[in-house]
Amino acid sequence: SWTTGNVIEEQVAAIRAQVGDKRAICGLSGGVDSAVAAALVQKAIGSQLTCVYVDHGLMRKGETEQVEKDFVAATGANLKVVDAQQRFLDALAGVSDPETKRKIIGREFIRVFEQAQLEILQEEGPEVAFLVQGTLYPDIVESGGGTGTANIKSHHNVGGLPDDIEFELVEPLRQLFKDEVRMVGQELGLPDEIVQRQPFPGPGLGIRIVGEVTKDRLDLLREADAIAREELTAAGLDREIWQCPVVLLADVRSVGVQGDGRTYGHPIVLRPVSSEDAMTADWSRLPYDVLARISTRITNEVADVNRVVLDVTSKPPGTIEWE
Ligand code: XMP
Repeated sequence: SWTTGNVIEEQVAAIRAQVGDKRAICGLSGGVDSAVAAALVQKAIGSQLTCVYVDHGLMRKGETEQVEKDFVAATGANLKVVDAQQRFLDALAGVSDPETKRKIIGREFIRVFEQAQLEILQEEGPEVAFLVQGTLYPDIVESGGGTGTANIKSHHNVGGLPDDIEFELVEPLRQLFKDEVRMVGQELGLPDEIVQRQPFPGPGLGIRIVGEVTKDRLDLLREADAIAREELTAAGLDREIWQCPVVLLADVRSVGVQGDGRTYGHPIVLRPVSSEDAMTADWSRLPYDVLARISTRITNEVADVNRVVLDVTSKPPGTIEWE
């Protein structure tokens, strides 16, 4: 019968059989799937696993610390954190177009991650032969199945390695649906903040700033987002809403009156949605008092924000994210 205990036991045995006494690398994104996959592999092979976390500076408040501290505390995994914040800011400088932002973030992410893989290979030697991925059953069905290998090229990075390095994939969540992954993660002792995390896009806050991405804008958005999340959690609404993007309209300014004078600041958009699978969505009818608390706190506590607006568009026609 299906129990999380059985799934863990089976997968631990399968991972041990596959990896043997070799070593594996797992990239952590801050999301549920990579965290649970890494925790499973960690349980199976312990210190033969090295986890990598690329800090691109586009995460929400506290999320990087969650990986660095809470994930490590819960699993005991070796973690290599790459601070790439400045590199991403430099690459994104002057860019406002959403698709261009996505491409840049995706490209830089792969480059930084591959560089980290190569460094681990140099430090740990050729026994590093496996790459862990948090692929779920629906991902496999959508992409037509099959498992395989991942290649990275080493030539432009570091010396002393073959030009083409091939990793065999370890995909311990291949048979699981999202809710099952959460149950397995919980059983493995991962904190709720990781296991119950709502969807969050890979490009992170980079696509929640309408306009150019800068450090100041990211910091501002992080504060506003943290307030919204705090109030939604306090109101017990986390399960009810699918996700609530908080968006900074950095290229829009509006007049306000705050304290003793007029201000000319930026609006923050709240985009709470309910959904089954993110393909379609409806805007969440949040209680007015919760919206009021979020609005009051954001305008009081976040400098340069003098207006909070609610997105009341379903998907379609609006996408969930603004970019
Ligand atoms: P949209 O905006 O297309 O979003 O309605 C649908 C769902 O996908 C998430 N999303 C992304 N996730 N990389 C991701 O990993 C991305 O580039 C990306 N863009 C959107 C979004 O948060 C929502 O859950």
